[in-house]
Amino acid sequence: MIFDLRVILALKKAAGKDKELQDHLLAGGAIPQHIAIIMDGNGRWAKKRGMPRIAGHREGVNSVRDIVEACGQIGVKYLTLYAFSTENWKRPGDEVSMLMRLLLSALRDERDRLHENEVRLKAIGNIAALPQDVQDEMLEAIELMRNNSGLTLILALSYSGRWDIAQAVNKLYDDVASGRIARDQVTEELLGRYLSTRDFPDPDLLVRTSGELRISNFLLWQLAYSELYISPDFWPDFRRKNLYKAISEFQQRERRFGLTSEQLQPASPRGTKYFERLLKGVAKH
Ligand code: FPP
Repeated sequence: MIFDLRVILALKKAAGKDKELQDHLLAGGAIPQHIAIIMDGNGRWAKKRGMPRIAGHREGVNSVRDIVEACGQIGVKYLTLYAFSTENWKRPGDEVSMLMRLLLSALRDERDRLHENEVRLKAIGNIAALPQDVQDEMLEAIELMRNNSGLTLILALSYSGRWDIAQAVNKLYDDVASGRIARDQVTEELLGRYLSTRDFPDPDLLVRTSGELRISNFLLWQLAYSELYISPDFWPDFRRKNLYKAISEFQQRERRFGLTSEQLQPASPRGTKYFERLLKGVAKH
């Protein structure tokens, strides 16, 4: 009984600290409208612990849950997660099938909670390449959450940036060939409307975990002006406090979009030191 009370008090304290961190972030500048994440390092996280790679992917689902929840709470509008790349099909067959099972069970387990939290689920990629049961479960979840008004969670599955550009060019070619589009109408803006991301703004912030300095064929077109944040943590260790740090750093950046500093508004001073102290004090969620 006493132990239960201690646990409850500890949780309340952590929730209070979390709220304080969130309020500080909200006061510190703009929250990125769209965050894209390359979730890397699951295998290495598991290897370091002498566990099979799938254990890293399983723990990675807990990070997904925490990051999705935190993004919804602080008002991020779009979150794109690179969950399975076109190149990932070349991994050993048993890892691919375990990842597909994990995706299926995560969709089943999380569906109702996501729906209750007003999350709108979307998917980009060559979805037809996924096992039929994964496709069915996902399409059902997407349909269920179609009218939700909270965070839009976009899963990139069997996705690669080059695949996206190639499929866009193919469709555009058909429209030009059939005369629906005139050749001189083809602009960057028009091509953007054929990409799988046509309904979403470009990411403001790209986060990659595990310290790797690569884009790995993710949203090649869409990342043109995104701010990059590389975290040294493996994905299963990347939780909301790490995300807050990434957003806090994003808020210090000056996004120039090709202009000069002088053409932009001067940045307002922000309490970085105070935020760092807050982060140190927050418990892991
Ligand atoms: C990269 O780590 C991670 C993946 C290829 C899969 C990510 C999948 C999940 C986190 C689980 C399912 C996702 C959702 C959205 C429910 P890696 O295997 O490349 O790690 P390594 O570089 O250390 O080998």
